[in-house]
Amino acid sequence: MIFFKTLRGKLTIIFFVSTVTITILTFFLLIFTTQKLIFDQVNHHLHIVINEAKKIVEENHEVDNIEPLKNLVSAQGMTVILLSSDGSPILQTNSFDVADVTEHQMQQIVFSSTNKEEPQHFSVNQMQFATVPVSIYGYQDGILAVGFSTKIINNTIKEITTIIIFVLLLSITVVSIVWQTIIKHYLLPLEKISQSALQIKKSSDLNKKVKTNTTTIELKNITASFNNLLEKLKQVFEEEHLFFSDTAHSLKTPLAVIRSYIETLPRQQNKKKNEILNYIDSLNETIQDLLIISKINTSYPKNSKQINFSEIVSTIAELTQTIGLEKNITVNQVIEKNIFINADEQLLTKAILNVIKNAVDHESQNGTITISLNKKNNISELLIKDTGVGISSKDLKSIFNRFYQSKNSQSKKGNGLGLSISKAIIERFEGKITISSKIKKGTSVFIFFS
Ligand SMILES: Nc1ncnc2c1ncn2[C@@H]1O[C@H](COP(=O)(O)OP(=O)(O)OP(=O)(O)O)[C@@H](O)[C@H]1O
Ligand SMILES: [Mg+2]
Repeated sequence: MIFFKTLRGKLTIIFFVSTVTITILTFFLLIFTTQKLIFDQVNHHLHIVINEAKKIVEENHEVDNIEPLKNLVSAQGMTVILLSSDGSPILQTNSFDVADVTEHQMQQIVFSSTNKEEPQHFSVNQMQFATVPVSIYGYQDGILAVGFSTKIINNTIKEITTIIIFVLLLSITVVSIVWQTIIKHYLLPLEKISQSALQIKKSSDLNKKVKTNTTTIELKNITASFNNLLEKLKQVFEEEHLFFSDTAHSLKTPLAVIRSYIETLPRQQNKKKNEILNYIDSLNETIQDLLIISKINTSYPKNSKQINFSEIVSTIAELTQTIGLEKNITVNQVIEKNIFINADEQLLTKAILNVIKNAVDHESQNGTITISLNKKNNISELLIKDTGVGISSKDLKSIFNRFYQSKNSQSKKGNGLGLSISKAIIERFEGKITISSKIKKGTSVFIFFS
C-alpha cells in the first residue's frame, strides 16, 4: 500500500508498533505484580494460620477435639487437614464456604511435605496451601496443611484483566486517532510541498509556488528554499531562452546576407560555392534547432488536444521509405490503428522525424528499419528500430545531451541537437524516450505515452 511508503504512514507504523509493545509490556508487568502482591499476602496469612494450627495440634492431647482448629479456620475460605505420615487423613475442618479437599489436592499435600520446620507453600485447583510436619498430640508424626481458597482472588484478577485490556484498547484507539490528527496537521505542509513538486514536474510550470501556513521552523525553511529554488530555476531558464533566441536572431541576418552574397559569386567557383552554401545551411539548421529548444519549455503552449498518433506515425513511415531509397532501405511497419494521445502534432512529428533521420543516417546499405506502434495497458509504445552501426554503451549515456555526437556519427550536416530536441518535446507531453543499442547490430528507440 502506498500509504505505508509515505512519511506519515511510516511514522504511524513506528508509533503503533511502539505503543502496542509498551502497552503489552505494561499490561503483563501490571498483572504479574498485582498477582504476586496478592499471593504474597495470602501466603503470609497462611504462614500465620499454619503456625497457630501447629501449636494447637502439638499442645492438644484430645484427638477428637477439633473445636480449636474449627475456630481458627472459621475465617472465610479456609481449611485445615491433618494427615498421618503415611498420608491417611486424621481430621479435616473447613470454613462454611470451602468444599472438602479433593483426592488430587490430598496427593499434592503429601507430595509437598518435607521434614523442614518452615511451612511449604503451593497452589492447586484454586487453593493455596501451606504444609508443615507436625507431632500429632504428642505420640505420632503427621502432616498439617492449611488451605485458602483463591477462587475469589482469581476471579477478581480475571475481571481486572478484562477491564485493563478494554481500557488499554480504548486508549490505544484514542491515542492513535489523536496521533493521526497531530501528524496529519504537522506533515500537511510537507505533503503540500511534495504535491506541488509533483505538479511542477508534470506541468514544467515554474510559475507555481508552494503555499503553506505552517508555523514549524524547519517546514517554513523548506517551503521558502523550495520557492526560492523555483524562482532561480525560472530565471536560469528565462536567461537560457533569451540567450538562445538572441544568439539565433543575431546570427540569422548576417548568415542570410552571406548566403545571398555567395549565391551571386561567378559560376566558375561552383564547387567551393556549394560547399560554403552547405555550411551555411547547416548553421541555419542549428539556429532553427536552438530556437525550438528555447521555445519548447517556455512559449510553446502545452497542447492537451487529442491527436491521432497512428496517422502521424503512418505518414512518417511513408516518408521513411522515400528518404531510405538512396540506401535501398526496407521499411517494415506494424502500426495499430486509431491510437490517440495528447500532444502537439507539429512538435511530435519533429520529435519522431529526428529519430527516423538518425535511423536512416546510421543504417547500412540494404538495411531494414522497423516502425511499430501499439497500445498495451493504456500505454502507447512506438518503436523505431534500425540494423545500422549501433551506439557504444559509453556514448549511450550522453546521447540525449545537447551537441553530443558519437565518434562514428554519420549524421549528415548534424549538430548533435536532434535527440535532445526529441526528448524535450516528448517529455513536454508527458511521454518517455529510451534507447537501447548494440554496436554493429543496430539501435532501438522506444517512445511511450500514457
Ligand atoms: N540510430 C542511430 N544509430 C547510430 N547512432 C545514432 C543513432 N541515433 C543517434 N546516434 C548517435 O547519436 C548522436 C546524437 O544524435 P542526434 O540526433 O542528437 O544528433 P545528430 O544526428 O548528430 O545531429 P542532428 O540530429 O542535430 O542533425 C549522433 O551523432 C549519432 O552518433
Ligand atoms: Mg540526428
